[in-house]
Amino acid sequence: MDKERRLIIAGNWKMNKTVAESADLVNGLKRELSGVKEVDIVVCPPFTALSEVSKAIIDSNIRLGAQNMSEQNYGAFTGEIAAGMLRDLAVRYVILGHSERRQYQKESDALIAKKALAAHAASLKPIVCVGETLSEREAGQMKAVVETQTRGSLAGLTAQQIEETVIAYEPVWAIGTGKTATSAQAQEVHAFIRQILGQIAGEAVARKVRIQYGGSVKPANARELMGQPDVDGALVGGASLEERSFADIIKNTI
Ligand code: PGA
Repeated sequence: MDKERRLIIAGNWKMNKTVAESADLVNGLKRELSGVKEVDIVVCPPFTALSEVSKAIIDSNIRLGAQNMSEQNYGAFTGEIAAGMLRDLAVRYVILGHSERRQYQKESDALIAKKALAAHAASLKPIVCVGETLSEREAGQMKAVVETQTRGSLAGLTAQQIEETVIAYEPVWAIGTGKTATSAQAQEVHAFIRQILGQIAGEAVARKVRIQYGGSVKPANARELMGQPDVDGALVGGASLEERSFADIIKNTI
């Protein structure tokens, strides 16, 4: 696929997979995807499997991501994990502000922005998630919600840091529901997000930022979604838990 920006496809394994299962999955992906040069491939296992997966992907074209991190660098924050600890395991990306964390851990845009700054300070690339719920969409608030989240979650970042941030547009009503946004719906919001990025960081930067779509991405709909001009990849949940489906999503977009 001929794209303006290099596609980035990430698997968000969420709270699934033991260490052994994680190793099996990533070793299978390594075999399946070793020839792929056109797409940035990222897997985001649970924290407990990061070390094992990190070792397994040395010398491969698969990069490692985490699903969350603390906004703090170190200290008395029981249960938290700092950016530097992730770097220590050769983690390159970190998902921030996933809708599940916004919902269950009550993460705010301001907190997500602090985490994004801490990630950049440790040379981790954040994947910042934004997206409206079904009731917000039905109430005609989709653009207002996406704009508030985008501006708030990137507050304080320099234009250079924004350029190195990945945005994931994940309409909450499409996550884990089997209801995918149509490619036209995705394109509309992605173009809108890019317009906001232009206002925040300038047109030249906005043109370089990669905006992933997330929400029930599968092998059957990946090509159509990724064919949209402003859709630069995918953040995949359920379909990233199996070698066949994640590998096919990537292969179907090439
Ligand atoms: P899904 O999840 O692909 O299972 O809809 C996407 C996500 O939450 O990142």
